[in-house]
Amino acid sequence: MKLKSTFAMLALGLTFLFACNNEQKSEATNETAVADETAVDETEATSQEKAEITLNANDAMQFDKNEFTVSAGQTVVLTLNHTGKQPAASMGHNFVLLTQGTDMATFATAAMAAKDNDYIPADGNGVIAHTKLIGGGESDTITFTAPEKGTYDFLCSFPGHYSIMKGKFIVQ
Ligand code: CO
Repeated sequence: MKLKSTFAMLALGLTFLFACNNEQKSEATNETAVADETAVDETEATSQEKAEITLNANDAMQFDKNEFTVSAGQTVVLTLNHTGKQPAASMGHNFVLLTQGTDMATFATAAMAAKDNDYIPADGNGVIAHTKLIGGGESDTITFTAPEKGTYDFLCSFPGHYSIMKGKFIVQ
């Protein structure tokens, strides 16, 4: 009789212990779920508002990417890094985004004559956005609004570079 009642007490105690544990566990799980949800929301909001792009250029006259995709109206923050060592005078690089209908070869020819303006024709015609002309070890970051949906050309307008240093800027 005495043994049976001790068992009963023990069983009751264990049940209570389990109940407490379960409650704590489920609270903790809920907290985690809430935190995850918040994190996802923030990430989505950031990606819709802003597109951050990094483009690297080197001493071998190459960009490391030839295609970007952003959304119409999105704020684009683009950083161009020159990862080489040669100066801008001999291996200068820039990023120039052209309007639709601007012929790249025609633009590049006009740009060659604009040495004193970082190889950007002074009238600015055909240019949506551009970085500075940079040399080895330098970087430039620009911010602009993505234009309407379509496919746009980008290039480096340093003389002779655009045949290799070019790509597509896609706006969805
Ligand atoms: Co270049």
